[in-house]
Amino acid sequence: MPQSTPRSPRIIVALDFPDRRPALELIERLDPAACRVKIGKEMFTRYGPPLVEEITRRGFDLFLDLKFHDIPNTTAAACAAAADLGVWMINLHAGGGRKMMATARERLDALAAPPLLIAVTILTSLSREDIAETGLSGEPSDNVQRLARLAADSGMDGVVCSPREASQVRAATNDRFLLVTPGVRPAGSATNDQQRIATPSDALAWGSDYLVIGRPITAAEDPAQALTTIRKEIGEA
Ligand code: C5P
Repeated sequence: MPQSTPRSPRIIVALDFPDRRPALELIERLDPAACRVKIGKEMFTRYGPPLVEEITRRGFDLFLDLKFHDIPNTTAAACAAAADLGVWMINLHAGGGRKMMATARERLDALAAPPLLIAVTILTSLSREDIAETGLSGEPSDNVQRLARLAADSGMDGVVCSPREASQVRAATNDRFLLVTPGVRPAGSATNDQQRIATPSDALAWGSDYLVIGRPITAAEDPAQALTTIRKEIGEA
């Protein structure tokens, strides 16, 4: 069953760098009690488990954002391999279906301390036309809600979603279901390429449990200060 987890610290810093050095330099300046961190496909494909080990050795909870999507046995095995790395959170695509998610859940439940297992519903980069072309009818938000419900029914601990979808996803699932939201921008900071943004306090008010924040922290002159400012905004510091 989904493990319960203390929400604080709620900020997950997205370490999106083409090279490991700036990522490690950045986390040297951050406190593992003040944030968690995330690496994705680019960093993991380049640097693999040794990078995961370097980050977790420094005491950070790590979200390994690899978005698995394959036949049930392969996905479950990949989730177990990720769990063996000692990460805090992993994810897969809800579009892989109930059997894929349930098999991964079962595999992780056999472990003493499994990572949180989160689903991706509809990629926010996809428009209504894009999803129609893949054979899904309806609005992206209808598909997000349907897949979030399926993820909850299949034993997932939560989903990644836009803060602007958070209240609908919460209504379609349950109170324990974790909502992990990127697209967060403190008031007055650059939006970069994010389209539908929310401030950290709005995201939490709408039901987010964890805020994935990259450039407003990683590109700041003083990343630790930027993190503290956001933590103050959400009443965490
Ligand atoms: O720098 P920024 O705050 O925009 O980084 C957001 C992070 O969240 C990136 O790692 C990005 O890939 C991820 N993400 C996102 N939107 C999604 C899913 C993931 O921005 N829908």
